[in-house]
Amino acid sequence: MYRTHNCGELRLTDTGKQVTMSGWAGTIRDKGGLLWIDLRDRYGITQLVFDENYTDKSLFDVARSVGREYVLQASGTVIERASKTNKIPTGDIEIKVTELKILNAAKTPPFTIQDDTDGGDELRMKYRYLDLRRNEVQKNLFFRSNLAIETRKYLAGEGFIEVETPNLIKSTPEGARDFVVPSRMNKGQFYALPQSPQTFKQILMVSGFDKYFQIVKCFRDEDLRADRQPEFTQIDCEMSFVHQEDILRTFEGLTKHLFKSALDITLGDFPRMTYDEAMRRYGSDKPDIRFGMEFIDLKSPKGSEFGSGADDVPPGFAVFDGAESVIAFCAPGCAEYSRKQIDELTEWVKRPQIGAKGLIYVKIEADGSTKSSVDKFFTPEVIKTWVDKCGAKPGDMLFILTGEDERTRKQLCELRLEMGSRLGLRKGDDFKPLWVVDFPLLEWDEDEGRFFAMHHPFTSPKALDIPKMESDDRITLKSMRADAYDLVLNGVEIGGGSIRIHDRDLQSRNFKLLGFSPEEAENQFGFLLGAFEYGAPPHGGIAFGFDRLCAVMNGANSIRDFIAFPKNNQGRDMMIDAPSGINPKQLDELGIRLAPQA
Ligand code: AMO
Repeated sequence: MYRTHNCGELRLTDTGKQVTMSGWAGTIRDKGGLLWIDLRDRYGITQLVFDENYTDKSLFDVARSVGREYVLQASGTVIERASKTNKIPTGDIEIKVTELKILNAAKTPPFTIQDDTDGGDELRMKYRYLDLRRNEVQKNLFFRSNLAIETRKYLAGEGFIEVETPNLIKSTPEGARDFVVPSRMNKGQFYALPQSPQTFKQILMVSGFDKYFQIVKCFRDEDLRADRQPEFTQIDCEMSFVHQEDILRTFEGLTKHLFKSALDITLGDFPRMTYDEAMRRYGSDKPDIRFGMEFIDLKSPKGSEFGSGADDVPPGFAVFDGAESVIAFCAPGCAEYSRKQIDELTEWVKRPQIGAKGLIYVKIEADGSTKSSVDKFFTPEVIKTWVDKCGAKPGDMLFILTGEDERTRKQLCELRLEMGSRLGLRKGDDFKPLWVVDFPLLEWDEDEGRFFAMHHPFTSPKALDIPKMESDDRITLKSMRADAYDLVLNGVEIGGGSIRIHDRDLQSRNFKLLGFSPEEAENQFGFLLGAFEYGAPPHGGIAFGFDRLCAVMNGANSIRDFIAFPKNNQGRDMMIDAPSGINPKQLDELGIRLAPQA
């Protein structure tokens, strides 16, 4: 028997017991006549003790030959520790070892296997099997496993059936590039890995399954960031005979259940905000509502969707005069910022990633007077109207950006988030979910000169907007709203979905708007259009980004920490060294000839 107990379970009440344990050697402390080894496994750490006064010399020699990460089996008696520690649950006891077997030796690991490891990101990814031994990483994967189990429990309780959909499919356009897989049996033809099971889950509704879910891998060949991996996991769901309200209720229920079961946090009802309102108040379709600092339009395009009509900026300053929008937010308690701090923030917004031309500030001094970077151009009375409009108090600071409306909102959004972080207002253990609803149906792509579906091509326009589909006018088409919604948590898009089109005619009209010829639509989606001719029920659904949900629930920024074998920012798996070339025979079988590298 390798063990009678694991390394996390023995307590003072076990004193005197004969035990056998197996695990890895952690910290080793050699004090000459006394030697301690921390024995570690998935369940915890137990200290082994060897004492020249009572330990056999041969046993002591074995203990002394042990190195970090050796795999050991130790037998002995549980004794009370002379110097107890409350840092670990087993800190009151240790094992007086009578037998020690080295089950396997280990090379010295390239970084220490402990919470505050000395290993850098790349090194830890290369030796992921060692990184996965660390407490932190293990804890994250246990969390993830538990969350998947709770998801299944909840959805099964609601009558959902889990169905697996294929991974070798035809491409579904979700906006990213496909990963493709060459077919040996059909030379010159390719499968695509699914960006999501979107069309399959809709087909399952046509087949009458009513409520589907799947915890499923999705693949997207897109630029990677902290919250994006080329393969990631969705909790993918679809329901029949539902309106948007039914979906929001069901998945608000799932989210609440997950918070309660995994974190013992009771979330209240989720607020809702339209896309337009989110853009107006926060410049983002995924606003972080853990803190205020909402946008105030000092000047906005007249007649625009955000236009207040009122223009609080009299002419006289070129940067304002020529701008489509002048937008401010109030940063509480920042009037004390030094020249240097303001300069640094100005440089921050001018970085190419943000792209602002400059940053305008207004300090509100303790006596209520103001000091700003535009004092030369405006009277204190004018500036006071801005202060009042923003509800700013003495000690606060207004930050103002100007320019083309959409871009300025995006830039100011970045600054708002940065200020939120700097002011400590984005706490990882404060959870503020939000439904963003009424997304536009279409998004104009300037480079391609055509509309794209903002969510995906199967999303239903709002019933009232369907007649607008016949219009040739870009503004009218842009104003169409969809039954599409996102679940946002602490500024992260956790999930998104929509009510789908279930009528063949309407789907064809939508494809036409998106620039598909009838032949292209038939070629790519003939199976779905065909299915719609055989009694498709009204249906809709949603997919949660499971990795993101795990990360946000733990106040973490990177989803990598919650994926057992993640890829780096170049999309590489550093451990197995993929992607890699394949041998000429394989290429031959696939009928693929590589072009010489430029
Ligand atoms: P969508 O494309 O919005 O919708 O994706 C759903 C959710 O998946 C997560 N996500 C990602 N997570 C990690 N890495 C990525 N590269 C990545 N891309 C997306 C996000 C996102 O909200 N079929 C539709 C859903 C539907 O309409 O039902 C879909 O895939 O959290």
